[in-house]
Amino acid sequence: MTITTCVFDAYGTLFDVAAAARVAASEPGNERLAQTWEGLARDWRLKQLEYSWLRAITGDHVDFWQVTQDGLDWAMEAAGLDDATLRARLLALYWELGAYPEVPAVLNALKQAGLNMAILSNGSPAMLQGAVDSAGIGALFDDVLSVESVGIFKPAAPVYDLVGQRFGCDRASVLFVSSNGWDAGSAAAYGFTTAWVNRAGAPMDRLPARPQHIVPDLSAIAQLALNKGATA
Ligand code: LAC
Repeated sequence: MTITTCVFDAYGTLFDVAAAARVAASEPGNERLAQTWEGLARDWRLKQLEYSWLRAITGDHVDFWQVTQDGLDWAMEAAGLDDATLRARLLALYWELGAYPEVPAVLNALKQAGLNMAILSNGSPAMLQGAVDSAGIGALFDDVLSVESVGIFKPAAPVYDLVGQRFGCDRASVLFVSSNGWDAGSAAAYGFTTAWVNRAGAPMDRLPARPQHIVPDLSAIAQLALNKGATA
């Protein structure tokens, strides 16, 4: 199946979610964070996602900015960090996470090849706007699709439906790219052609479907999308 549309998850796939804690840890006055930032970044991300899934199950939706704050509050308490200034700094940094180094070149190659291109993310429209502006990659996308238009988080099917609604494409003609194993697996079950960007070398998630492609970063994505050297 020819790929017509390339769709990217945002956080962890295009934008480095650990950057907020890493950058704050390098700043003067945050010496305690410097000892623990990796654990804090991991707990923050896990709680942010856990809260998104729980709220999708219970139907008690709030936007991703709220679960991002709730996740950080849990992670800071777990780390024994009671510091309102640090909390504010970490949250501010979340609006300007950098893109991973290979991202601009890959997006440019896909754009030049004429594919439809979008982000599909749990992020709120304002958060996503901040991230794409900060990374300078906004002009490379036809659209930035946020779950806020359907009011439920991934991996609920109405989120993945947004792609077909926007581009009028078949599911299998979409290359969906995510660094989150659960997102890649769920998108594969939905019927997208999927690539899991396994940056962390994590084990495969045990879910009903598996991504067709596994890559260590985004470098091979243009080749996959253009169907050169694809491996199933
Ligand atoms: C997103 C999260 C899941 O961008 O990374 O949707």
